[in-house]
Amino acid sequence: MSLFAIGDLHLSLGGDKPMDVFGGAWSGYVDKLRAGFRAVDEDDTVVLLGDLSWAMHLDDSKEDFSFIAELPGRKLILKGNHDYWWTTASKMLRFFEENGWDIGLLHNNCHFYGNTALCGTRGWFFADTFSDAGDEKVFNRELIRLETSLKAARDGGAERIFVFLHYPPILKGRVCEEMTSLIEKYGAERCFYGHLHGGARTRAFEGEYNGVEYRLLSADHLNFVPKKIL
Ligand SMILES: [Fe+2]
Ligand SMILES: [Fe+2]
Repeated sequence: MSLFAIGDLHLSLGGDKPMDVFGGAWSGYVDKLRAGFRAVDEDDTVVLLGDLSWAMHLDDSKEDFSFIAELPGRKLILKGNHDYWWTTASKMLRFFEENGWDIGLLHNNCHFYGNTALCGTRGWFFADTFSDAGDEKVFNRELIRLETSLKAARDGGAERIFVFLHYPPILKGRVCEEMTSLIEKYGAERCFYGHLHGGARTRAFEGEYNGVEYRLLSADHLNFVPKKIL
């Protein structure tokens, strides 16, 4: 039994936004994902770090989630900035259950993988890039969601805490202190994030900062092979 993570599948199996048009690493990405998931067994867990489907509505995401569900392992998902289909937790869980898919949500909660708590939320842009008060509101809500998740880990007696975000809380030379200090406050060991693709990956910070290990796990960064993290 192992724990894996990967972000940014950007599927469009029922739509018209396949990423192959970008060429390069994204050419044949659906087949690459299918092949990459051969590393995963049915009794493993895979955390998917947002930007999963280009669908605009949950009903239109069926082919994408059918593909995700058929890949091996139990899936835990969090929201990315392109997940417009994301709706209430109850609607999403009912949708997954009605289709017989073993997909859970990492949203205002935490999940336990043995004694390790899997915490997370979407995150947001860096404060100095906010364009209006709306950004600040979203950012503050994301901080509350992350803390809710971390508190659930602490209250549940977690021995180790891993944090999963869509947006990077740290880049080379830039730190979102509000996020990283929360991660540190609750003693999380590792933090995994996605969102950065192609050339933007050169901005990614990967390594240790204030005792926490940060890693970028967007699909193209991993060559579409889920990363084993435990
Ligand atoms: Fe993203
Ligand atoms: Fe993405």
